[in-house]
Amino acid sequence: TPLGTAGSTLITGIATLVTNDHHLPGTSPDDPLGLLRDAAVVIEGDRIAWVGTESQAPATDSRLRAGGRTLLPGFVDSHSHLLFGGDRTEEFGARMSGRPYTAGGIRTTVEATRATSGERLAAGLERHVEEALHQGTTTLETKSGYGLTVEDELRALRIAEEHVDETTFLGAHVVPPEYAADPDGYVDLVTGPMLAACAPHARWVDVFCERGAFDGDQARAVLTAGIARGLTPRVHAGQLGPGPGVRLAVELGAASADHCTHLTGADVDALAGSRTVATLLPGCEFSTRSPYPDARRLLAAGVTVALATDCNPGSSYTSSMPFCVAVAVREMGMTPDEAVWAATAGGAAALRRIDIGRITPGARADLVLLDAPSHVHLAYRPGVPLVAAVWQRGARVR
Ligand code: NIG
Ligand code: FE
Repeated sequence: TPLGTAGSTLITGIATLVTNDHHLPGTSPDDPLGLLRDAAVVIEGDRIAWVGTESQAPATDSRLRAGGRTLLPGFVDSHSHLLFGGDRTEEFGARMSGRPYTAGGIRTTVEATRATSGERLAAGLERHVEEALHQGTTTLETKSGYGLTVEDELRALRIAEEHVDETTFLGAHVVPPEYAADPDGYVDLVTGPMLAACAPHARWVDVFCERGAFDGDQARAVLTAGIARGLTPRVHAGQLGPGPGVRLAVELGAASADHCTHLTGADVDALAGSRTVATLLPGCEFSTRSPYPDARRLLAAGVTVALATDCNPGSSYTSSMPFCVAVAVREMGMTPDEAVWAATAGGAAALRRIDIGRITPGARADLVLLDAPSHVHLAYRPGVPLVAAVWQRGARVR
């Protein structure tokens, strides 16, 4: 039941407030998290109305005591694949016995998804959205890509737009079996009738640019066709090996290059000189037993880094942003501050959104209350359900 939707609510007693706005009074200009101690926040309707120190808090209709805990922006999960049927438990089991991950398993999910009713696909998506919300994710992007026919991709995006803020057309996920002998014919289908049907239901166009999926020329054809239809590109690049995906993403002005596990020096330079965010997906390396991306190298070069779950039944079946933060800190050399920024403001940057990912006047009131004295505990206490309360658009949803 939504609480705090009417009038204004003051949250007081916030031991640590992560604002991600280092211009606010009381924050330090060289602290990207814009931390405030002993802080208070006012929510009015679906927006943040006021942020400051507890002693200066204005009078409001209702008041809630945070009790010495941590308030941070809701997590922004900018990369997931949640329109799928079945699961891949057997593939995971085989992998944990030593079989390597290949993207070949995507076709297993395509077959299962085509055989699943729209009602069940929608129910699965809803269940995962709820699961993510419970763990503090207040904005979620999700993709098509397990249908790979005009009808099945359109069906996925129609369901997606009902349940999530950000939808991505990924008709170019892999070449489906019926086009195995004619991959360019499949690219023609994607850039022609499939895109025409799907573009009205998506904001983004994505392509899996990788050996075994789509090469640089095919990826360029898909992305430029999407741009011509008004979509903005984002690219799956450098997951299984280096390739042309990252530089193509930068060249075409993509909002994000995702995975970035295998990068050349030229890739890092291209990202550093661009607005394209590098979205790292630690759940993927965790679940495929692969080497992690080098976050330090990207950060040192000045690249904007985001963290996302990549939640999907094959390579990363987690919906938990706290888990991704913990893994990024432990395994990718990110500091707790960097990882928390990447999971909130970084995700917002990867989705080119300025209304989310920050707790500042005017921003959407998407908030997570942690049962911990600081945000560092997200990494320090891995696997512990620290998320105590969640607000989405000003409504208490958990
Ligand atoms: O982002 N890389 C391509 N797509 C997904 C994997 C999908 C799957 O294995 O089903 C990814 O990891
Ligand atoms: Fe993905």
